[in-house]
Amino acid sequence: MSIELYRDKQHACLMFTDLIEEDGQAVQANQFLVVDSGTGAVIDPGGNLAFNELYLSMSRHFSPQHLSYLIASHADPDIIASLDRWMTSTPRAKLVISRLWARFAPHFTKVGKTEDRVIGVPDAGGLLPLGKSELWLLPAHFMHSEGNFHFYDPISRILFTGDLAASMVSGAEASRPVTDLAPHIARMEGFHRRYMVSNKILRLWARMARQLDIAMLVPQHGAPIVGRQAINDFFDWIENLMCGVDLFDDRAYQIPTARIDPAINDTRAQLRAVSR
Ligand SMILES: [Fe+2]
Ligand SMILES: [Fe+2]
Repeated sequence: MSIELYRDKQHACLMFTDLIEEDGQAVQANQFLVVDSGTGAVIDPGGNLAFNELYLSMSRHFSPQHLSYLIASHADPDIIASLDRWMTSTPRAKLVISRLWARFAPHFTKVGKTEDRVIGVPDAGGLLPLGKSELWLLPAHFMHSEGNFHFYDPISRILFTGDLAASMVSGAEASRPVTDLAPHIARMEGFHRRYMVSNKILRLWARMARQLDIAMLVPQHGAPIVGRQAINDFFDWIENLMCGVDLFDDRAYQIPTARIDPAINDTRAQLRAVSR
């Protein structure tokens, strides 16, 4: 089922929160469709788990034949592992991804599928035409990926933040916008402490993002953060968060002695452990 984040006569932003079967094996992920004047872009299309459902659900709103772009915030499997199927199922859609990943992404496809269909975005980002509008590709490097972008839609005033602002929740919970940040922080904190690279990066990003007129922060995992107060509270929280290399010292780099039991294969517990 899709959630309409924004719609007017020419422009729509749809969010898909529950396309992956919730058996606890794979982390919940959101996918997005932005349409302007009959032209469309999928943002963070996801892995093979999401492809069939996304393609079908999307077809109800928009013909995939008219898709111009598959826009990837970075090159993780939950972002772009379905690339081969998108390249096969759409005639013209181009992959838009950081230049750092442009030569790595073809490893997701069969030989030749990405020929002349990859737009490598320079570190500084840029404005990507979409229909009569444009999407702003904003630098978001090291949050968490080395070559990483966020996407600002000036019409809906939505900032799509990839793994930043992610919360570890179910698909149903991801469909409910957060307007009060304080109780939501517990669902974001563990993930951000481990996956985000450093406080310096978060502060640089917040300084840039505060200049935008934002109605909604929409992450690739979990619930959107909506409204001026909650968004400002998110900026305040994130620019004071210590994470990644801030928290690592020599204790994290010791020759290990603990044995890994190959019989234990509880993906749910592993997922909880890294997002705690
Ligand atoms: Fe990621
Ligand atoms: Fe992700």
